[in-house]
This record gives sequence, C-alpha cells and structure tokens, in this order.
Amino acid sequence: MYQKICAKYTPDKDNLIYILHEIQDTHPRHYISEEAVQAVSDYLGIPPNHIFGVLTFYTMYSTKPRGKNIIRLCESPPCYIKGSENILRKLKVLLGVETGETTKDGLFTLELSACLGVCGNAPVMMINDDVYGDLSEESVEEIIARIQRGNQ
Ligand code: FES
Repeated sequence: MYQKICAKYTPDKDNLIYILHEIQDTHPRHYISEEAVQAVSDYLGIPPNHIFGVLTFYTMYSTKPRGKNIIRLCESPPCYIKGSENILRKLKVLLGVETGETTKDGLFTLELSACLGVCGNAPVMMINDDVYGDLSEESVEEIIARIQRGNQ
C-alpha cells in the first residue's frame, strides 16, 4: 500500500512532504506508521531517522494512530476572544478526552490548531476537512451527536 503511494511520485527527496501527507491522509487512523516510514525511506533513499525528524518537526503529522474524525479547534487570539476556551471545555466533557487524546471508540481525536483562516466566523474548528464556525456550546454538542449517530 505504501509502495503504491510512493510510486505516484518521482523518487526525489523534495517529494518527501507530499508522500507523507498522502500516506497520512489515506490511512483510516490518520497517522504514519514505522512501516510507512521504512517504505518511504527505501523509496527515497532517506534514512528513517531523518524522516522521523521531519515527522516530529511538523505538528500536522502524527506517528500515533488517531481517531476517525480529527477535531482541530482554533486557539489563535481571534477565536480565543470569541470563546474558544469554552468550546474546548465543552468538547472535553462531551468526548471524555484531553487535548491530544483519542476517544476509546476511536471516533474522535481532539487537537488544537493555529488560525484556520476563517477568523470572521470565530470560534472555529475543523473536523477532518469540514469547517465549523460561529460555534457555541450548543452547536458543538449537535455536531458531535450528528457524527456519532452517523457511525452507529
Ligand atoms: S483565529 Fe481562529 S480561524 Fe483565525
């Protein structure tokens, strides 16, 4: 599977970031395993420890399995001023996890993010590729419940 993704790109070191992105995006648990790192290392001729260095430098990558739905709540000042802290508190209670953790059912991982680029709708969060703005504690509860229902 990883070799197939690698083969879409020329074996050029400059493609490392793109390959890692695609591996993470297509993995059902949204992470990059040791096995994936080895496959990329073999393909690009880059030592695995160099790839791990890249993975730990960029916060967008994870080397640990994450939930099916990754919640990224914006913590930048415009969202903070509009109450992102209350939204974070609500999410923690609803999901029973702390920041950086995954729910026991593997459905959600809760993360914080820098500005998501839609400050006019603060407070904002993304769940996978979907953006949710003008959040309130009530709307967050509805969004989470809708996703949970969709997974039953
Ligand atoms: S500050 Fe939150 S989206 Fe820009």
